[in-house]
Amino acid sequence: MNEGRQRVALVTGGANGIGWATVCAFASQGYRVVIADLHREAARQRIAQLDGEGHVAIGVDVSSESEVAALLQGTLEACGRLDVLVNNAGIGEQAKPTIEQGVNAFDALIGIHLRGTFLTSREAAKAMLAQGSGAIVNLCSIAGLAGIPQRNAYGAAKAGIAAMTRSMACEWARDGLRVNAVAPGYVATELAQGLVKNGQIDLARIERRTPMGRLAQPDEIAQAILFLASDAASYVTGAVLSVDGGWHASGSA
Ligand SMILES: NC(=O)c1ccc[n+]([C@@H]2O[C@H](COP(=O)([O-])OP(=O)(O)OC[C@H]3O[C@@H](n4cnc5c(N)ncnc54)[C@H](O)[C@@H]3O)[C@@H](O)[C@H]2O)c1
Repeated sequence: MNEGRQRVALVTGGANGIGWATVCAFASQGYRVVIADLHREAARQRIAQLDGEGHVAIGVDVSSESEVAALLQGTLEACGRLDVLVNNAGIGEQAKPTIEQGVNAFDALIGIHLRGTFLTSREAAKAMLAQGSGAIVNLCSIAGLAGIPQRNAYGAAKAGIAAMTRSMACEWARDGLRVNAVAPGYVATELAQGLVKNGQIDLARIERRTPMGRLAQPDEIAQAILFLASDAASYVTGAVLSVDGGWHASGSA
């Protein structure tokens, strides 16, 4: 636990979509937030829109080992501690049938989602283990829990993230660190809009397939992340929480 000090939350991919909603949710709860994003200028502009003081923007490509090391160094220099890491940065799948999919795009996606989650967790855990406390929340997906045609690298990365959530949770369970994931269904963000534009998803079909009959708003995912990172979830670790309007629970067409 964090004896009355202002808590610090680092959100990768925090300049947009679910990441930005998560940044806002943590800031509104009094956290000092580090927005880590490929687009540093966008992250910097977001800081001005936040409640509270002392928030930080850092440019990073989460698939780069040296940039992630610099991110953690910058975070600790600016904030002195790290209580929460949200591994959110991500990109969408290449818009092609499997037999036309390129290996470079496959590797790039795995690099950002899977390697990025590994690298950022590894570096953050060094600080959290030294403190004896911390919470990591990863972004999984319905695509990591069930098969979605053509979502090869994406589904594999998200299934890998679910596996890594469990292995790291068990490794650090007695060290004060908790590691959990959320598995959203379709969320109304730029990433999802891109999939609609590419013809990779059909909105009307998704709404029919989702028991709640609609996409999620980014803040609905952010609130689940906030819960998993909070003391209210003090006995929750290694969990992958579906936040999908019932999508994964449903067996109907
Ligand atoms: N939108 C959905 O329907 C949905 C569903 C399930 C899971 N997710 C997951 O949620 C996360 C966020 O998705 P979103 O829809 O908000 O996406 P988004 O495209 O709206 O935002 C992604 C953010 O990540 C940043 N980013 C991309 N590559 C990066 C890199 N290499 N290093 C650092 N930052 C990088 C982008 O600049 C952007 O700010 C992703 O991990 C995604 O897979 C999204």
